[in-house]
Amino acid sequence: MKINQLELSEFRNYETLSVQFDESVNILYGDNAQGKTNVLEAIYLCGTTKSHKGSKDKEMIRLSSDESHIRMMIEKAGIPHRIDMHLRKSKAKGVAIDGVPIKRSSELMGLLHIVFFSPEDLSMIKNGPGERRRFLDLELCQLDQTYLYHLGNYNRAVNQKNNLLKQIGFQKELKDTVEIWDRQLIEHGSVLIDTRKRFVDELNDLLPDIHAKLSGGKEELYVRYEANVSKSEFGQKLAVNLEKDLILKSTSCGPHRDDISFYVGDKNLKLFGSQGQQRTAALSLKLAEIELVRRKIKESPILLLDDVLSELDRNRQTYLLESITDLQTIITCTGLEEFVDNKKRYHKIFHVVDGVLNET
Ligand SMILES: Nc1ncnc2c1ncn2[C@@H]1O[C@H](COP(=O)(O)OP(=O)(O)O)[C@@H](O)[C@H]1O
Ligand SMILES: [Mg+2]
Repeated sequence: MKINQLELSEFRNYETLSVQFDESVNILYGDNAQGKTNVLEAIYLCGTTKSHKGSKDKEMIRLSSDESHIRMMIEKAGIPHRIDMHLRKSKAKGVAIDGVPIKRSSELMGLLHIVFFSPEDLSMIKNGPGERRRFLDLELCQLDQTYLYHLGNYNRAVNQKNNLLKQIGFQKELKDTVEIWDRQLIEHGSVLIDTRKRFVDELNDLLPDIHAKLSGGKEELYVRYEANVSKSEFGQKLAVNLEKDLILKSTSCGPHRDDISFYVGDKNLKLFGSQGQQRTAALSLKLAEIELVRRKIKESPILLLDDVLSELDRNRQTYLLESITDLQTIITCTGLEEFVDNKKRYHKIFHVVDGVLNET
């Protein structure tokens, strides 16, 4: 799959933009705060209905405007499609595929598959569990419509139950209705647990080879799924925790507390890995993610690399650049130094200055 063209109007610091991408490697370079990441954000938004940073729609609309438009011309399995997105300050966004408005944003999922790689991803292993769950969810929602459906319902049920836990403080008789939400948590949560487990297994099929190359054959990396609760014990744990949850006013067990951890041999990298090891493992994980998408959807995803090259040492830079030969990639960076030594051809290079792209 590939993006042929992106058009923006009144998005972030872009008044208007129209850019045609090459089907191979595209580089956007320029000083800080010129609008490089904003271009990647627009692409990610158009592909997944969400900002990669979790920004709200109204934050992405250009400050002086009330609405933004994004249009993206893509090609999937040789067939061209047009995605139109209309962001509004006080209303939900409008999305259309090939000119036909869609009702639910989930209908857009699966049309385009995007792998986003940012410096924050490099710290994913040492940061809090929320970021690792976000990784699981962002990837799984793109791969699996069923997961997307159950995740939405599960998160809603957690919120509803937590609201109820607060209300019970004033209205004790409501305690009987907790069960209604617990049933929902179990129904949807069980699918999340199964799907995450499978996903981690699939990553583990790919990771050892990739990581061995990145670490010079010295290390064998694998991921472990740290489910907060098993499917079979979920119902029982919810019941046992109820009194505690009523005091905390929040649901203390369930897949919303899941985590994944990274091991080299029996060493947990979060606790015992050096910063270099943690970053290399994160890079391996991203490369495994690309490979997994290829296996599943039989097409290459689109890779967005936001300022990560300068964070990697020379060997890892080279390895990364060499691994991305056959997928459309858009790279942002401040300078072009990283590319001088690499023999690979860069097909389009844009200099980004204050919301304007100049092809060089
Ligand atoms: N809603 C907005 N309206 C106008 N400008 C914005 C908006 N959001 C961010 N910006 C501007 O975008 C610039 C940052 O763009 P970004 O793409 O993150 O830069 P970089 O080139 O460093 O990746 C900043 O100058 C910021 O003020
Ligand atoms: Mg940036």
